[in-house]
Amino acid sequence: MTAQYQPIRVWSRKIRLFHWLNLLCVLLLMVIGLMLLNGKLLGLSADGKILLKTFHVITGYVFALNLVFRLVLGFLGKGYERWGKTLPFNPGYRRELLAFRQNKHLVYKGHNPAGKLMVAALLFFMSVQMLTGLVLAGTDIYYPPFGTYVAAYIAEDSDKLDEIKPYSKVNVNAQAYREMRALRKPVVTVHVYSFYTLVVLIVFHILGVIIAERREKTALVSAMINGYKYLPPDKQKK
Ligand code: HEM
Repeated sequence: MTAQYQPIRVWSRKIRLFHWLNLLCVLLLMVIGLMLLNGKLLGLSADGKILLKTFHVITGYVFALNLVFRLVLGFLGKGYERWGKTLPFNPGYRRELLAFRQNKHLVYKGHNPAGKLMVAALLFFMSVQMLTGLVLAGTDIYYPPFGTYVAAYIAEDSDKLDEIKPYSKVNVNAQAYREMRALRKPVVTVHVYSFYTLVVLIVFHILGVIIAERREKTALVSAMINGYKYLPPDKQKK
């Protein structure tokens, strides 16, 4: 690093923790999700499927808590944690985007304008995964936050909810079960298509980081580890 490059603290510890924990959870959720999608091909038994779904849901809770933490931080946090510096909705964003497309030599303390678009898309589709996932957890293996209500809805005898188990017909009213499964069907479709969208976005996110690092040379990747970017003083942008 040459002498005129200045270390500037950009990413707080909270943002960095969110980022790496999110990466871990998403990777795990994708691997288990892919196994569930290809259950027949893998010859999964019913018990094996229930076990995988339980792992998926428990990882999903960590993912959801971490994501909610990040969403709240956007409103209550400081500096580059805040939405004004993260999402592509700040006043003057269109001008920023135009300048970014015209001038290859600009460097940015926070996200560049294309990065802001990507963060918005990633957070949106991850929120879709979180919300649909929580509904599926309730309607598939009767897990919180909706599992008890779903079990009560399909039960023949609502005093014996503990008898309601995944893939079991004990104490289940067949008509109510069919209604519940019909209601959850579009939720599964959204969960799966939002998963495919996330795969594409993640590929573009990684490509974007590589291109930005080659263009701006601000030590983007290590900044997400130690919090510091390195910027030439004459070219700094917000
Ligand atoms: C980035 C986050 C996530 C990804 C990429 C993801 C991906 C997937 C995929 C690919 C499947 C297979 C769908 C199928 O078998 O038809 C699946 C199923 C499932 N997911 Fe997720 N998921 C995510 C988050 C969550 C969360 C947060 C929860 C709940 C806490 C959750 C709960 C479930 C459940 C219960 C199923 C089984 C649905 C079924 O077989 O009908 N997921 N997920």
